[in-house]
Amino acid sequence: MAGKTNNHGLFTTGEPVSAWTVSTALPVTYQVAFTPQLLNPGNPALASAGATPGRRLVVVEETVHALYGDKIRAYFGTRGLAVELGVLAAHEEVKTMESVFRVAEWMDHFGVSRRAEPVIAMGGGVLMDVVGLACSLYRRSTPFVRVPTTLIGLVDAGVGAKTGVNFGRHKNRLGTYHPAVATLLDPAFLATLDQRHLSNGLAEILKVALIKDRKLFELLDRTGEALIDQRFQGPTPGGEVLVRAVHGMLQELQPNLWEHRLERSMDYGHSFSPTVEMRALPELLHGEAVCLDMALTTVLAQRRGLVETAERDRILGLMRRLQLPVRHPLLEPETLADALTDTIRHRDGRQRFPLPVGIGDGCFADDLTAAEIGRAATELEELACVAP
Ligand SMILES: NC(=O)c1ccc[n+]([C@@H]2O[C@H](COP(=O)([O-])OP(=O)(O)OC[C@H]3O[C@@H](n4cnc5c(N)ncnc54)[C@H](O)[C@@H]3O)[C@@H](O)[C@H]2O)c1
Repeated sequence: MAGKTNNHGLFTTGEPVSAWTVSTALPVTYQVAFTPQLLNPGNPALASAGATPGRRLVVVEETVHALYGDKIRAYFGTRGLAVELGVLAAHEEVKTMESVFRVAEWMDHFGVSRRAEPVIAMGGGVLMDVVGLACSLYRRSTPFVRVPTTLIGLVDAGVGAKTGVNFGRHKNRLGTYHPAVATLLDPAFLATLDQRHLSNGLAEILKVALIKDRKLFELLDRTGEALIDQRFQGPTPGGEVLVRAVHGMLQELQPNLWEHRLERSMDYGHSFSPTVEMRALPELLHGEAVCLDMALTTVLAQRRGLVETAERDRILGLMRRLQLPVRHPLLEPETLADALTDTIRHRDGRQRFPLPVGIGDGCFADDLTAAEIGRAATELEELACVAP
């Protein structure tokens, strides 16, 4: 017999019983905000993010530390916060539990308080995913603040709820949902990012454009080369593209933050790519693998009549102009079949495969076959060979 419940389904009062239904909700509120001049000592945003005055543990990716370490120390010094810096090497091959344990040791050594001293994570997607996982595990949940310093970090890894590390040969196989209390976005960090990592981030922006925002696609098509040349410095076109990309991403994430619904348009480009990226490691960056997946599925969508031939060619052309790959030897039958099998498991037994419809819209498919995928891969290879 179940206990008496109130109208939210919660067990409340009544005689002792031997079976209970416990039901509760986990409301989540977090801030994501463009915050220029983040390391200007006159700007209180970073020092006050989600916390009381006092001390902070700041985990910084090692290249970011080499470039900005002095500024970071000067910032916190001027704001009167005692900081301890943990400098972590963070790239895909060390996106592991060992890195998580390292951060947890720093947290332990620092004696981080349970609620009042959010750990500050400064770096790219790998650094933020690792620190986020350490924080979600440490005392089952410790708050953290994200300061993304790469383009993928700014538009994607920094704004959602997911943390994670690679495990075995699988990408992000161990992870949690643990959003940062605040994410502070300062495009000034992109001034030191190299072209390849800018293009890498543009792949995730292109994902949002292709599956839900035609205007963003037009903007990328018009300004792609300038975005890379100018490293997103200045309000146009960089600022406009960043705001649109983050807005589009959060529009999709917020109603489904815990991913109870497995049809996710933001999974576009992430069906074949996790397996391709891990098998190619360290050759392909995350966004490059995502772009290969999008190139293949654009061709597949065109073959299904979902995308016009001219649209397909325009999309592949833009990918090339953004200096992203559209072909790779791993787009071959065995890897693609393994990738699809793993993705079906990830999506709970169904393909739920996001496909583009024209430019700026999408649908989900459940009926892709190995033969169809193989034909699309062959056609992509032919198209890539003849293109300039
Ligand atoms: N949690 C999520 O929702 C989510 C979403 C998208 C991607 N990701 C993850 O993000 C990772 C990719 O992120 P990434 O592209 O930022 O890669 P990354 O974290 O490996 O960083 C890329 C490189 O940029 C360098 N770097 C960082 N900031 C710099 C700066 N300002 N100037 C110069 N160099 C700088 C770093 O040294 C590093 O070598 C992948 O592991 C992916 O799975 C997570």
